[in-house]
Amino acid sequence: MSTALIVLAAGQGTRMNSDLPKVLHPLGGAPLFAHALAAGAALDPARAVLVVGHGADAVRAAAADYDDTIAIAEQSEQLGTAHAVAQARAALDGFAGDVFVLYGDTPFIRAETLMAMAEARRDHAVVVLGFEAGDPGRYGRLVMDGARLDRIVEFKDASPEERAITLCNSGVICADADTLFSLIDAVGNDNASGEYYLTDIVGLANARGLSATAVTCPEAETLGINTRTELAAAEAIFQAFKRAEALDNGVTLIAPETVHFSHDTYIGRDSVIEQNVVFGPEVTVESGARIRAFSHLEGCHVSRGATVGPYARLRPGAELSENVHVGNFVEIKNATLDQGAKVNHLSYIGDASVGEATNIGAGTITCNYDGVFKHHTAIGARAFIGSNTMLVAPVTVGDEAMTASGSVITSDVPEGALAVARTRQDNKPGLARKMFDRLRAQKARKQKEAK
Ligand code: UD1
Ligand code: CA
Repeated sequence: MSTALIVLAAGQGTRMNSDLPKVLHPLGGAPLFAHALAAGAALDPARAVLVVGHGADAVRAAAADYDDTIAIAEQSEQLGTAHAVAQARAALDGFAGDVFVLYGDTPFIRAETLMAMAEARRDHAVVVLGFEAGDPGRYGRLVMDGARLDRIVEFKDASPEERAITLCNSGVICADADTLFSLIDAVGNDNASGEYYLTDIVGLANARGLSATAVTCPEAETLGINTRTELAAAEAIFQAFKRAEALDNGVTLIAPETVHFSHDTYIGRDSVIEQNVVFGPEVTVESGARIRAFSHLEGCHVSRGATVGPYARLRPGAELSENVHVGNFVEIKNATLDQGAKVNHLSYIGDASVGEATNIGAGTITCNYDGVFKHHTAIGARAFIGSNTMLVAPVTVGDEAMTASGSVITSDVPEGALAVARTRQDNKPGLARKMFDRLRAQKARKQKEAK
């Protein structure tokens, strides 16, 4: 059975109090809408449609950035959830199969839950995802008739008896595409909100002799985000989930609650992540690596047996081969470090390649930027870069070459050569003692005058 997703993301999200559309606020480093799409991806959908409205241009751009196969349907006026789904009809033209409607602001629906809904669809035309609410508040109520779902009543329209129902609507609905759109055509807006309610399709289905049912999931899965407080709480839940996942995968987290993951962080087995490490998007760490305390990584790859930190920063394009050591106060950007290379202290390595077993001394800087262009620094294998070397790119240092400490390297260093690019030392015998005497006398005179 072919599947399609419709993710509703047209709402303004007024309570976020933000210029950014709600569904673009990040959770685990990915925009909210991406989490709904990721859950739906387990259904292997043939098509996915994002319904956008408020901040449409920004959402459209972010969606294309996330996955350029996602179709966009624009809902210029938010007339209700049924109206929102109707906007996706053109994008699903020619599609036959089941449609799942998800919300862009509800990131925790699990793939297994959607699978259970797909299973229930075998026996029912419409399947709704419900949950037992701790506090049913203003959720739509599911009015059951045994195993069958009779109708959904929105809170505003519900009688006191219906409001007493604790089985609530999550918003996730599944139906065959033709059935869904045909039911939506029959939805009106004669209700307390004057909106076209998607939830009305359940009653309409029953009236047509089609059956509906509800699948339930834990309330936690249905958590929707409306405020910054809810977003922060959701982030905490997301982080707890990622930490548990890492621990289950055989990663040692010394202080799990201090490690921050992104949605796509991948860490191999028997790696050790020390305290207060932040993983931005697109980081992979292979087995047996160690990320030491207070390091910040994004867009990088750390190979087996490498060590990073403490206090290291790996920026996008940092590629560390096996057994590389990157130490404290080192920043690496768009640079490859071959096997066994070491950059242990206080360095910036940007737009560079560093050969196997090369040692980069403390305080080395690749001067990669001339104010307009970025330039590359190529350092060979088994080279030794003396402390406080400035490598003014573009520049090449050959295999097994050396640079003297404090050198400013502006031209290429041939293989095996030692480059010294600093002024020669000049010792003035006795001059320090003379200077001290003069300065101390000056100080004594000033103190006397002050009295
Ligand atoms: C909806 C359900 C309610 C359910 C609740 C769960 C309806 C009529 N009601 O109510 O039964 O318990 O969700 O949270 O469906 N959206 C659009 N375009 C619109 C309207 C909404 O894209 O015209 C999007 C919103 O951005 C949001 C989602 O649909 O992501 C739900 O809309 P919202 O207004 O929050 O629905 P509720 O009134 O909470
Ligand atoms: Ca809502």
